[in-house]
Amino acid sequence: MRVTITEIKEMKQKKEKIPMLTAYDYVTAKMVDEAGVPLILVGDTLGMVILGYESTIPVTMEEMVHHTKAVVRGAKKALIIGDMPFMTYHISVSDALHNAARFIQEGGAQAVKMEGGEVVAEKVRRLVDCGIPVMGHIGLTPQSKHQLGGFKARGKAAEEAKKLLNDACILEEAGAFAVVLECIPARLSKLITHKLAIPTIGIGAGPDCDGQVQVVSDMLGLYTDFVPRHAKQYAKLAGEIKAAVSGYISEVKSLSFPTMEHSYTMDESLIKQLEAES
Ligand code: KIV
Repeated sequence: MRVTITEIKEMKQKKEKIPMLTAYDYVTAKMVDEAGVPLILVGDTLGMVILGYESTIPVTMEEMVHHTKAVVRGAKKALIIGDMPFMTYHISVSDALHNAARFIQEGGAQAVKMEGGEVVAEKVRRLVDCGIPVMGHIGLTPQSKHQLGGFKARGKAAEEAKKLLNDACILEEAGAFAVVLECIPARLSKLITHKLAIPTIGIGAGPDCDGQVQVVSDMLGLYTDFVPRHAKQYAKLAGEIKAAVSGYISEVKSLSFPTMEHSYTMDESLIKQLEAES
């Protein structure tokens, strides 16, 4: 049985912390799921850490649905959330509904995530009314990087802090089942977390959120183009992979790979016959 949004909400009531990770492919999703993560986000960070774009803005619905399908095939237990890409939910409620439905129907996800507070409330309400669970996302919202002037922490000044608190309450009232708080001061996330009945999931938002999310490629030390302050590397796989590939190159060049251990055999008389005939 897959984890449900009811179980996620209950974790907050039971004061049980909620670990969440991103995943973008079958193999990683399978490992993350088997390790016991209850929430997997097919984040639009896909664009940067897998597809090599400079930001999340070029990511399309086709790319997201394609990768969501792979994650769903790999993870059998976790609740899977599809991240709605840039401009796939802002233009109209019907656009938001149509694109969210693709994540659920074609992708096999159980929920979607949208960036923004009050500005997306109407869409959140409609999706929830139509049976699609929605996770909110406020603070540093990377899809608005041009408007925000880059990837900077949010909510340090009074006006912005008040707006974030208000946005969080509006998302809860609109029916979101949880809300991501990205790069906001730890004291502000504590306040928001206490104010909301739904779980807050932090990334660069301090220890008092109900859960934490990390980009899997950051926490495994796979994506090294840029390491954000809020990312903790639990492994350094980029280095290990490069060392493994160097080992392979030198063994191929020195003829120490492959040996007969990695080769196939055939009947000796057959090969003798072939040699005689050729
Ligand atoms: O796309 C993503 O990976 C995200 C997380 C950073 C929350 O939105």
